[in-house]
Amino acid sequence: MEKLAIEGGVPARKAPLPPNYPGAMVMGEEEAAKVAEVIYGRSPFRYYGPDCQNAVQTFENKMAAQLGVPYTLAVSSCTAALIVAMKALGIGYGDKVIVPANTFLATAGAVVACNAVPVFADVDESLNIDPADLLRVFDDEVKAIIVVPILGNPVDMEPVMAFAKKHGVYVIEDVAQSCGTMYKGSYAGTIGDVGVYSFQMNKVLTSGEGGAVVTRDPRIFERAVRYHDQGIFREKARYGIDSSEEEAAFMGQNYRMSELAGAVMVQQWDKLPGIVSAMKSHNQTIRTALSAAFPQINYRRCSDPEGDIGSNLGMIMASREDAMALTHALVAENINVQLLYGGKPVYMIPQLFHQRTADASGFPFNYPFRNPVVYEEQMCPRAVDLIARTVYLPISPLLTEQDVAEIIDGIIKVGHKTGLFDK
Ligand SMILES: Cc1ncc(COP(=O)(O)O)c(C=O)c1O
Repeated sequence: MEKLAIEGGVPARKAPLPPNYPGAMVMGEEEAAKVAEVIYGRSPFRYYGPDCQNAVQTFENKMAAQLGVPYTLAVSSCTAALIVAMKALGIGYGDKVIVPANTFLATAGAVVACNAVPVFADVDESLNIDPADLLRVFDDEVKAIIVVPILGNPVDMEPVMAFAKKHGVYVIEDVAQSCGTMYKGSYAGTIGDVGVYSFQMNKVLTSGEGGAVVTRDPRIFERAVRYHDQGIFREKARYGIDSSEEEAAFMGQNYRMSELAGAVMVQQWDKLPGIVSAMKSHNQTIRTALSAAFPQINYRRCSDPEGDIGSNLGMIMASREDAMALTHALVAENINVQLLYGGKPVYMIPQLFHQRTADASGFPFNYPFRNPVVYEEQMCPRAVDLIARTVYLPISPLLTEQDVAEIIDGIIKVGHKTGLFDK
């Protein structure tokens, strides 16, 4: 058999795979034309201008129609969307929010931005939050649970929603990485009280920066709109909402989406079905071929395999050393697999682990909680273990049949030569 590239052999692929930016890589004339309309209309702000194209509004309506929810609010990022969502729910100083140990820093950072404190639930072999671990971190200071479907693989929402209902807490779905993911027939992001999306560069769809807040609840929606726009609600007629400023307004910020981003998102949104079906199909082909060669591969568990958008194939290796060895061997073959987040739980990132904020006050971590919030490496032992040994193969929608065949051949070659899947 051929020598591995890592040992000086010929790589399975001559060139690296297409960059893993699904939405960005299919940007083209459609986005350019829409952006040009905004520019030539001299109206890059969503709420007024000499010839406002209402691109953000059009995007919001498209998104709502497809997701089957009455309310979508486009915002400037998913970090913004998380903050807006929590402010809409009234979360603040003295509150705790349950966050999964496997997520991007923004999920926890937004909690801190809302003056609340994150507490961390462990993951299971789906690498998403383990619903069975919620009770361990729950107390009556917890006001919400944020769930995060990592890289397109749906969270098991039924037990999460049952827990939230029983204990009277909100559920926020941070579907930043999982636009298009479904769970038992519903879009991820539409099952909890609020869903938040990211349209940053490396997400499924993108306008460079961008995000959205989604809800079915008119009260939460009104509060979200107000918080994202300095406490104002400019489009009451659009939603048939007639609250009085005197009573309903409160201090907000500016997390508005610009018309330039809106114009891009109007076009990107139409590309979602094509992107998802291509990723799912390539993922399935690769997985079927690998499973035939190595029936023992331990894939990430999935609560609804039909709902996974297929943007990544996660393989859980026997040890962190094996995960590193597989990663190095495949990268040398020009198959760019990776570990997520440096192979560590989010709470191990120094600024979070040390509860360090921009000022020296200690706020909001210094709230006198009845059960103080202390972070320790081993507080979520399965996250520590599983994140370090899960290798993700990104699946671009742009893969050709030849790319797919070379990925399969490369992984099979590495698997046979190293024996890494046999453990
Ligand atoms: C799970 C998760 N939440 C939130 C964010 C933040 O998104 P944004 O960059 O749009 O603020 C990201 C971005 O990577 C993410 O992966």
